[in-house]
Amino acid sequence: MKIAVFAGDGIGPEVTAQALRVLDELSLPGLTLFEGDVGAVAYRRHGQPLPDETLEMARAADAVMFGAVGDFSCDDLPRHLRPEQAILGLRSELGLFANLRPAAGFPGLEHLSSLKPEIARSIDVLVVRELNGDVYFGDKGERASAGGREGWDAMSYNEAEVRRIAHTAFRAAMGRGKKLTSVDKANVLETSRIWRETVIDVAKDYSEVTLDHMYVDNAAMQMVKAPGQFDTIVTGNLFGDILSDQASACVGSIGLLASASLGERQTGYGTFGLYEPIHGSAPDIAGQGKANPVAAVLSLAMLLRHSLGREEEAVRVERAVEGILADGVFGGDLGGNATTGEIGDAIVSKLLTIS
Ligand code: NAD
Ligand code: IPM
Ligand code: MN
Repeated sequence: MKIAVFAGDGIGPEVTAQALRVLDELSLPGLTLFEGDVGAVAYRRHGQPLPDETLEMARAADAVMFGAVGDFSCDDLPRHLRPEQAILGLRSELGLFANLRPAAGFPGLEHLSSLKPEIARSIDVLVVRELNGDVYFGDKGERASAGGREGWDAMSYNEAEVRRIAHTAFRAAMGRGKKLTSVDKANVLETSRIWRETVIDVAKDYSEVTLDHMYVDNAAMQMVKAPGQFDTIVTGNLFGDILSDQASACVGSIGLLASASLGERQTGYGTFGLYEPIHGSAPDIAGQGKANPVAAVLSLAMLLRHSLGREEEAVRVERAVEGILADGVFGGDLGGNATTGEIGDAIVSKLLTIS
């Protein structure tokens, strides 16, 4: 079993280090780790945010553990050299079109959510975000206009792209509450009209799943008003990016939410995937021991489940995280005072108590 570890920038290395401690504690036989550079760190060392050798390392692995990329010092670089190109490049080059972002409340944290505790308690949603298309990967550029320089980004989805993510989402909904909400902006966007028609067509294969449709503006409102109504959400790249950050505040902190990015390639143990927290490099708190490593540790649990076929260990890691949160071990993002390392210590100790 080979895992490529790309810790990246800012708090990426801090939270990844804690996930690696947890992985080490599991003592999985036959596991080899490879470390590669991504993001601003890679740009400084190799002149590129996603060096060829990093991409090759990912291709040769069964799974990628990813921290975060992004650095203010790179904000003025041309787009192809910006750190964010590392994660965008990995997602597209590796064909990772399905981004699973679960957001469920943790017992004991209800009163720390931005929502009223009784509403926060109801959250248990899986956001299935399409990851290889949309305005992210359409043509883009700058041109002259009567109003001065004009930036433009083409948004599009074709039927094949919608079809494959819709199948992923319906299958995920089948394993959950059998309710799928497709989020779009079909009242305005042609992209969304094709999206909605295609999702309705794919639904014919999943008669047990109840499908509904919601415009993204309403979905954002419903996410804070009554998040418990959602079971599984399927949406495009941009809307999914925004709704999942929003869902994290409903749970309590962006430092809690993990993600898996999957494609079609199978390894000897499961599906090849890239695993990362939904948060970024958080330059405002980097290097201060303030980062919450839970999202990174739960991303490791998703890696164990989806890419290594290690369901038992995945559940152990998730139980350990739930346990330390219920014990009140958390940092400043949740109003506590534990450091990144102390949270990692607590998770490792808790793991030893769970068989
Ligand atoms: P961010 O997610 O990095 O931070 C948003 C806010 O949440 C900040 O106040 C930050 O301190 C806090 N936060 C984030 N993660 C936390 C954690 N684990 N524990 C405690 N607090 C946490 O988003 P941003 O500030 O908009 O972006 C910063 C940089 O990260 C940018 O360069 C952006 O492009 C990049 N980014 C990268 C990824 C990725 O690598 N996949 C994701 C999002 C943003
Ligand atoms: C995320 C991030 C990325 C995205 C950026 C860094 C390109 O916000 O992983 O959620 O927009 O997908
Ligand atoms: Mn994001």
